[in-house]
Amino acid sequence: MHLDRFLCKQADYSRKTVLQLLSQKQVKVDGNVILHRDYPITPFSHIEVQGKQIQNATARYYMLNKPAGILSATTDPIHCTALTLLTGINTTDLHIAGRLDRATTGLLILTNDGKWSRQLTELKPIGANQIPKVYLVETAYAISPTTAQRFKEGIYFKTENVTTSPAQLDIIHETLARLTIYEGRYHQVKRMFAAVGNRVTQLHREQVGSIILEPALTTGLFRALTPQEVNWVWKR
Ligand code: URA
Repeated sequence: MHLDRFLCKQADYSRKTVLQLLSQKQVKVDGNVILHRDYPITPFSHIEVQGKQIQNATARYYMLNKPAGILSATTDPIHCTALTLLTGINTTDLHIAGRLDRATTGLLILTNDGKWSRQLTELKPIGANQIPKVYLVETAYAISPTTAQRFKEGIYFKTENVTTSPAQLDIIHETLARLTIYEGRYHQVKRMFAAVGNRVTQLHREQVGSIILEPALTTGLFRALTPQEVNWVWKR
């Protein structure tokens, strides 16, 4: 958004007042006096008018080791949500970047940066720099030797009329495997196993792209992402 539009829309100044304030050097963005009305700003630009803070949010990013039974949502009238586990920080502007089912455990990413989370979660066509998501999967029945090949070829989802991107399955033992998928479709892992006649009994997300669930984070704990973990998303 441009600075003049922001000041009119968010701070309720008239267009004439905005132009006056700018020419009188009364507007600062990130500590610098700005004279140009079309100066580009983001939701995290620190904006000051006549010494008064108009916007001063900071982009924040977290990983949580989600326990089973916790809802991937910001609010819910019945179930406990992931946000309630982020104790001691302001959670009012946070959202979840890539939900997990209620029973699924592991890496859940939360942020107040909508542009960053869209970059992380948007569905990309095969081959277009898709982001790997790694899951540890326990199944009800022995995983048949043909499953890895089926997942590599892609599983057809009738509801969406799509075939999943080639996924990689590494069988650890007969009912335990590590699965890497490149999309985040609704109940994707469960539906892929159901399509080959199996059933997921436990699902745990270990990794999303370069963000790996911190081994020291026991279930229910969270930490801020490091600058490297954040910036990797922009650099892709
Ligand atoms: N696939 C699923 O089926 N469930 C999840 O929570 C994540 C991926």
